[in-house]
Amino acid sequence: MLSPIELRSDNAAGAAPELVAAIANANHSSALAYGGDAVTARLHEVAQEVFEHPEAHVFPVVSGTAANSLALSALCPPWGSVVCHETSHIYVNECGATSMFGGGAVIRGIPGDGYKVHPDGLRRVFATTNWCDAHHSQPSVLSLTCPTDFGTVYTPAEVAALSAVAAERSLRRHLDGARIANAVVANGCTPAELTWRAGVEVISLGAIKNGAVSTDAIVSFDPEVNEALGYRLKRSGHVASKMRFQSAQLIAYLTDGLWLRLAGRSNAAMARLAAGLAGVDGVELLNDPQANMLFLHVGEDVERRLADDAALLFYGMGGGVIRFVTSFQTTDDDVDEVLRRFTSVVG
Ligand SMILES: Cc1ncc(COP(=O)(O)O)c(C=O)c1O
Repeated sequence: MLSPIELRSDNAAGAAPELVAAIANANHSSALAYGGDAVTARLHEVAQEVFEHPEAHVFPVVSGTAANSLALSALCPPWGSVVCHETSHIYVNECGATSMFGGGAVIRGIPGDGYKVHPDGLRRVFATTNWCDAHHSQPSVLSLTCPTDFGTVYTPAEVAALSAVAAERSLRRHLDGARIANAVVANGCTPAELTWRAGVEVISLGAIKNGAVSTDAIVSFDPEVNEALGYRLKRSGHVASKMRFQSAQLIAYLTDGLWLRLAGRSNAAMARLAAGLAGVDGVELLNDPQANMLFLHVGEDVERRLADDAALLFYGMGGGVIRFVTSFQTTDDDVDEVLRRFTSVVG
């Protein structure tokens, strides 16, 4: 019997050994709770170095949904709207968390090619808004997801152009970086170039999908939102008493480029997989994977056989379209075995 190969999600991957070791290394004596410890103090310094921003401040949380919804609630007034792409996780997959924490703030999902918001789309929102009219939610935040939920990647120039349009109407700028390391690697840019240098004020820094144990974070580049974030995190139960174990992971993650090496592995595995699948008859690749996510049309019969006969673990999107996601744990041998099983099913 074939052993299953994991391509469902990077959420299904395990923890990176370096981050497990970081938890163990932080496990000595006692320390002040709720982020008052030396490890968390060091985390802010590390983030300041890595993001090249003297005021970067990190708020560890336990999930990407917590990072997004709490960051957005601190940026958006209750009468405001968060503008994002209509496929965004915050709009489609977070069960209204931003509206709940945002006191009723709404999310306005808009279309855009390549699963991205485009400047003309944002301008259309502005043109169709009744500004200063209490009957209408007021666009208050632009939230970009990078990589998008469909694996495409904004360039720093695209983020900067969108931030500039958003700033014309004083919208705050947030980036859902659940997989931001994959985007930085795909762009070959610095973390600063994709974020604050491109006008982003607060990011959700994903780490869990890339090897951390129940630790993502909000990184704020704007000290003015930090006080609100502090209260909002506490009220929602997101200030861990033993924060040092989250902070220790984030320090190890960001130090010496570990986060980018882990993401580089998953991007490289996806590139190898996509190159191998591109030559297979009857398979249509629906995107050119820039990060670690690939959508392909295989038809319902092949989809069933890939799951049942080839023991591949993946998500079906309906209509014979499937999604493959690689992670830092996906090896070249895994990819080659996927390709071998794939061609035996299709051929
Ligand atoms: C782009 C994006 N943002 C946010 C999240 C939310 O992360 P979590 O499931 O940890 O709440 C996900 C999860 O898959 C995601 O793909």
